[in-house]
Amino acid sequence: MQIHHTIAPLRATLAARAQPRVLVPTMGNLHEGHLALIRQAKALGGTTVASIFVNRLQFLPHEDFATYPRTLQEDCAKLQAEGCDIVFAPDEQTLYPDPQTFRIQPDPALADILEGHFRPGFFTGVCTVVMKLLQIVQPSHAVFGQKDYQQLEIIRRMVQQFAMPVQIIATPIQRASDGLALSSRNQYLDASARQQATQLHAELVRTAQLVQQGRRDWSALQTEAMQRLTIQGWQPDYLTVREQRSLQEPPADGALPPLVVLGAARIGTARLIDNLEFDFG
Ligand code: PAJ
Repeated sequence: MQIHHTIAPLRATLAARAQPRVLVPTMGNLHEGHLALIRQAKALGGTTVASIFVNRLQFLPHEDFATYPRTLQEDCAKLQAEGCDIVFAPDEQTLYPDPQTFRIQPDPALADILEGHFRPGFFTGVCTVVMKLLQIVQPSHAVFGQKDYQQLEIIRRMVQQFAMPVQIIATPIQRASDGLALSSRNQYLDASARQQATQLHAELVRTAQLVQQGRRDWSALQTEAMQRLTIQGWQPDYLTVREQRSLQEPPADGALPPLVVLGAARIGTARLIDNLEFDFG
């Protein structure tokens, strides 16, 4: 496995490697969730490239940019064990030399809601770095996790609107055996918060079941789910039923498109997000 920190040697290596060229962008501190993306990339054959970069542009000033776990050596060992071909781990000077004053402004209808409402500018930071990584690596495919559901939809839309020659592949959420979605931020959970952490997923399941039983009063469903989480000691930002593609609220009556319930809530010092797709088949 080759590890590159700068663009020119990376591109020289890539030029000689087989297609398809599959990029898996990450911020490192890799766990089984990320490794599922690597496996999906490898299954396409060709050359698997993982990028590791903690992207300052997608953190608000009060967020955990400074303390976000940076574990490059362990990450590379895990990637090597999975058979990843190339790691691109640029430092900040390499990725943002100028600094980066040109930014990608995603559609506010998708990017200013849910995560974007609670983390203003987050998706501008995500889209800017993903655009840049795609330009540098020029992959034929790029793999993203459904764990970050809104991120995946926004990137799909960005690629479509800019006619970028890359196919976006989605990997299902990888969970611990008790249902908690794997995340680098789970390590901020102390023992009691870790025990409680499954309640977020349980609330998504419960809300999906209520919809399947006929509930269509979307805002009451959201209020009730958030109240149940609050009683259990959480500080929920949102827990809401949306249409899968548009992420807008579904109609109150008539046939429903495929739906997803998305949630974000704080427990202790951690802020967790999760989601669950469901339909009526
Ligand atoms: P990061 O949080 O490191 O996640 C990298 C990729 O792994 C994302 O596509 C994310 O959805 C996926 N992932 C994380 N946990 C997962 C899980 N439990 N199951 C399935 N997939 C999971 O997302 C980012 O980094 C950044 O925003 C990035 C796209 C790299 C841009 O900086």
